[in-house]
Amino acid sequence: MKKLIIMTILVAAAFTSCSDSDTYQDIETPPVTGTPDPDPVVAATYSKNVKSIIDANCIGCHQTGRSAGFRPLTTYAEVKNAVENAGLLNRIQLQTGQQGIMPQAGRMSQANIDAIVKWNTDGLKEN
Ligand code: HEC
Repeated sequence: MKKLIIMTILVAAAFTSCSDSDTYQDIETPPVTGTPDPDPVVAATYSKNVKSIIDANCIGCHQTGRSAGFRPLTTYAEVKNAVENAGLLNRIQLQTGQQGIMPQAGRMSQANIDAIVKWNTDGLKEN
């Protein structure tokens, strides 16, 4: 009888010890903070998906009076123009340390890069 009780406890313990909420994804996916997540179906737009990224990572230099004031990135028209005429997409997709990488300090998160690339793919819409 004692053996049966011990067995029962062991079996119960074996079944309850693994929490099934810890999937591979929970462990592997790094937390993405402050990134507007572009919907794969809905078109990305400047105001929804791009402006906050540019504001956080680029306009410290890319505005009048700063080191890259010749190429301001503070409005929709300016950022669109930089994509079309100044190689913005190429610059942000270079590797950290490569000549011309933007931001100069190093590549942004892949989520940020993807959001801007998708904005271009979706037609560079403002809203
Ligand atoms: C620390 C300051 C700094 C930051 C931050 C920065 N840039 Fe720049 N950027 C520069 C400077 C200085 C140049 C001019 C030198 C060069 O072309 O590399 C430049 C050049 C560029 C150019 C080429 C402009 C042209 O007309 O030839 C693009 C496009 C650009 N940056 C995009 C960006 C984007 C997008 C971000 C943010 C993701 C960013 N930069 C962040 C300083 C910065």
